[in-house]
Amino acid sequence: MMKSEVYNMDCMIGMKQIKDKSINLIICDSPYYKICGDFDWKFKTMQEWIDWHILLRDEFERILVDNGSLFVFGDDKNIAYLQVEFDKKFNLLNNIIYKKVNALTNKGMMNFHIFTPITERILFYDKGENKTGLEMIKKIMPNPFADYLKSELLKYFKTIANIRKFVVEVLKMDSAMVNRWFEGDSIISKEKYLFIKKYLNDDYLRKEYEDLRKEYEDLRRPFNNKYKLTDVIDCKVQQGFHPTIKDLNVIIKLIHTTTKEGDLVFSPFVGSGTDRLAAYNTKRNFKGYEIDKIYFDKAEHRYQEHIKQLRLNLTFNQNDK
Ligand SMILES: C[S@@+](CC[C@H](N)C(=O)[O-])C[C@H]1O[C@@H](n2cnc3c(N)ncnc32)[C@H](O)[C@@H]1O
Repeated sequence: MMKSEVYNMDCMIGMKQIKDKSINLIICDSPYYKICGDFDWKFKTMQEWIDWHILLRDEFERILVDNGSLFVFGDDKNIAYLQVEFDKKFNLLNNIIYKKVNALTNKGMMNFHIFTPITERILFYDKGENKTGLEMIKKIMPNPFADYLKSELLKYFKTIANIRKFVVEVLKMDSAMVNRWFEGDSIISKEKYLFIKKYLNDDYLRKEYEDLRKEYEDLRRPFNNKYKLTDVIDCKVQQGFHPTIKDLNVIIKLIHTTTKEGDLVFSPFVGSGTDRLAAYNTKRNFKGYEIDKIYFDKAEHRYQEHIKQLRLNLTFNQNDK
């Protein structure tokens, strides 16, 4: 049974109760600075807004699991100031363009002397400092499979140079494969693993390939891009009781791609409750906060209606069979 809980309170206070490394995905659609909703105007200065996000960022770092993901929403201009701060504690994976295909700004922008803005941004992060290349892969992705393979092969071949020689002469592969297996973000294929095991008369590599693969997958950050999303994501502007409702279908896709069933999704700024609905649809647990009592109540109502509707659809579908 999935858990879904939302509290009517300031997330800065609520988050103090969240255990270290207990959240798999954070979706942060915080107030932008002076853009749309009344909540966007509560900060007197830009610096106050940035400083508040620094506190938020530090809490996110504490509560996110090591292989967790973070999405930070923002408008095209001000997101740059947040990126500077979030980059200090997280590793930026994408700066996603959230493209509003039915943007209202298409109308009435002729007099502004700028290109019509129809996009927002989503910064996609995982844990770790902002490093690049191998250094990053090693730091954030422990690879027990690689460690095991290396230690077993070294027992037999004694040196890395001998392993390379074997890879080139017997496996007929590029010697660079050795680096990829031992250091990189990939694992040896099952076929090659079993071949080497047999070549060594089953005296080495006695662990089951599938067990090693599963251990490796469990440690990695989930990422299953089954929707073939790029870093430009089309969305539809939604109308409703809340001024900044995000597109439910997009949030469902983001959750599906970056978490596993049963994971815990956290939304510090629930608003109309889109993330909660998406978590429900994707069978993820959910936790969230909304400071505004009116939005909180309406979001609760939206959620109850949503699950009622889904259950009804399910019953109809079952009766149809
Ligand atoms: C940008 S909206 C989120 C919209 C949401 N993604 C949706 O699809 O409906 C930000 C929400 O955060 C709420 N909020 C602002 N400050 C908050 C705080 N300190 N703690 C919790 N909620 C807060 C606002 O009332 C607003 O509803």
